Amino acid sequence: MATGPFDRLVDAARSGFDAADHKPLLEAWQGLSLAQLRADLIERLLAAGIDEAADEARFLISHVLAPVPLAQALADPALFSWQQAEAVAALAWRRLQRVPLSQVLGSQPFWTLDLAVTPDVLTPRADTETLVEAVLAETGSGAARLVDLGTGSGAILLALLSERPAWTGLGVDLSDAALAVATGNAVRCGLANRARFLRGRWGAGLAGGSVDILVSNPPYIVSDVLAGLEPEVRDHEPALALDGGADGLDAYRDIIADLPRLLVPGGLFAFEIGHDQGEAVSALAREAGLVGVAVKPDLAGLDRVVIGRR
Ligand SMILES: C[S@@+](CC[C@H](N)C(=O)[O-])C[C@H]1O[C@@H](n2cnc3c(N)ncnc32)[C@H](O)[C@@H]1O
Repeated sequence: MATGPFDRLVDAARSGFDAADHKPLLEAWQGLSLAQLRADLIERLLAAGIDEAADEARFLISHVLAPVPLAQALADPALFSWQQAEAVAALAWRRLQRVPLSQVLGSQPFWTLDLAVTPDVLTPRADTETLVEAVLAETGSGAARLVDLGTGSGAILLALLSERPAWTGLGVDLSDAALAVATGNAVRCGLANRARFLRGRWGAGLAGGSVDILVSNPPYIVSDVLAGLEPEVRDHEPALALDGGADGLDAYRDIIADLPRLLVPGGLFAFEIGHDQGEAVSALAREAGLVGVAVKPDLAGLDRVVIGRR
């Protein structure tokens, strides 16, 4: 029977272990070396339908080992403890349930930044860096008022502010939870003095003629397609960030209709689009009287950005 403080500690640890979801993993890993544990994790990730299993196993283990490099810990058993194995198991268990790697690790690199990610925001995608590049290519270093509609984690807004020290930025989102993540990311990136955040429905709460540069990566997935997406997206990313309505264009219609009011004359806009939406979104922009409308490809050569001016 547990009587002393040490026994109570042992009992608490044991009941924590018994209650942990990842207990089966820990039991399977008992007595394994780090190399064996890694091999087992890769097999389990593959069996769960995760293609980049070797890379993901490395990310999960390295996250726990940091700052010790994986190669060093593989070579020296003293550098990998049972507590660390437990920490890897807890992360790996969530990833095996197809929780996105960014949510498991709590952050995601974007542009030159490292952004906090939670289930309340879309994980920033490498494709979205095409939008950042397109805006930088069209602008100089002078002062400008930047607005990011549907800012989510703040990815686009913060990447652009990080490159343009004279700009100030406003990130708008309908989700309070997303705005809390974006606000934290502005602090994390040292950009809080130039970034503000506002809850709103697209640009409805903004004054006319108050925007020099407007960017947006709105939800653009066709509603019917959502159910067939990978579990990481379908089950773990916010529907508000994904669902673009019956033809995927609902958000573009709303935002573009308001662009002539929001933008200063000559003001720049840039949208991320789905690879098959270049023509439709360009047509909406031209119909609204916007000029210089062009479609830009991403690194894979797929249409990714529509850009133009008032
Ligand atoms: C595709 S995510 C983009 C997030 C981030 N900008 C990025 O590129 O990673 C779209 C964002 O739009 C927001 N959103 C959806 N409908 C909105 C609306 N009517 N008004 C403002 N924001 C909205 C969602 O909450 C989500 O954060």
